[in-house]
Amino acid sequence: MEKLTGLKKIKTAVFISGTGSNLKNLIKFAKFKKSPISINLIISNIKAKGLNYADQFGIKKKIFSFKNIKTSEKNILILIKKEKINFICLAGFMKILSKDFIKKFNGKIINIHPSLLPKYKGLNTHERAIKDKNKFTGCTVHYVSSKLDSGKIILQRKIKITSKDSPTSLAKKVLKQEHKFYPAAIMKIFN
Ligand code: GRF
Repeated sequence: MEKLTGLKKIKTAVFISGTGSNLKNLIKFAKFKKSPISINLIISNIKAKGLNYADQFGIKKKIFSFKNIKTSEKNILILIKKEKINFICLAGFMKILSKDFIKKFNGKIINIHPSLLPKYKGLNTHERAIKDKNKFTGCTVHYVSSKLDSGKIILQRKIKITSKDSPTSLAKKVLKQEHKFYPAAIMKIFN
C-alpha cells in the first residue's frame, strides 16, 4: 500500500449493514491527526442503524439495495469516483462484493471478521468456536479478495474463551477488541 505523503488523508468509504459500532470507532479514529484516513462516505445495503452516525458526524451516506448487484455496484463505483474515494473499509457489511468490483479496487478494500481466520469464515463464528470447544477466538483484519474471508491477513488479535462464555458474551468481548484492532490494522497498512 502506498506510503503517506504530506498531511493529505486517504478518502475512505465505510460499508455497513448493522449497528455500526466499528464505523463509529473508525470515524473517531479518523479525526486524530495521526490517522492516515478520513471517512468521507458511508454506504449500506439497508436502512442500517449505523447510518445514524452519518448524520451525527456530518458524513455523506447512501443506501444501495443490492437487489440487482450489478446495478448497485455500478452506481457505487460512480459515487466513489465522484467523491474521490481511494480506500474502502467493510465493517459488518452483509453483502458479498463481486469479483469485478473487488478487482477494480484491488488491494484497497479491507474487512474485519470476528474470528481467527482462516478459522470460521462466514457467519455465526462465536457459536461455532464455542461448540468446537476452542480455547481462543479473536478478530482478523484482512484484505478483501474474491474468495469470502480469505484475503491476506493484516492483523489478528487472539481472545480467550472461558467456560462461562456464551455466543453473546463472546461477541461483546471480541467487538471491544475489534474497536482497537481495526484502527491498528489501518495504521499498519499506511505507515
Ligand atoms: C462485527 O463483529 C464485525 O466483525 C462483523 O460484524 C460485526 C459488525 O458490528 N463483520 P458493528 O456493526 O460494527 O457494530
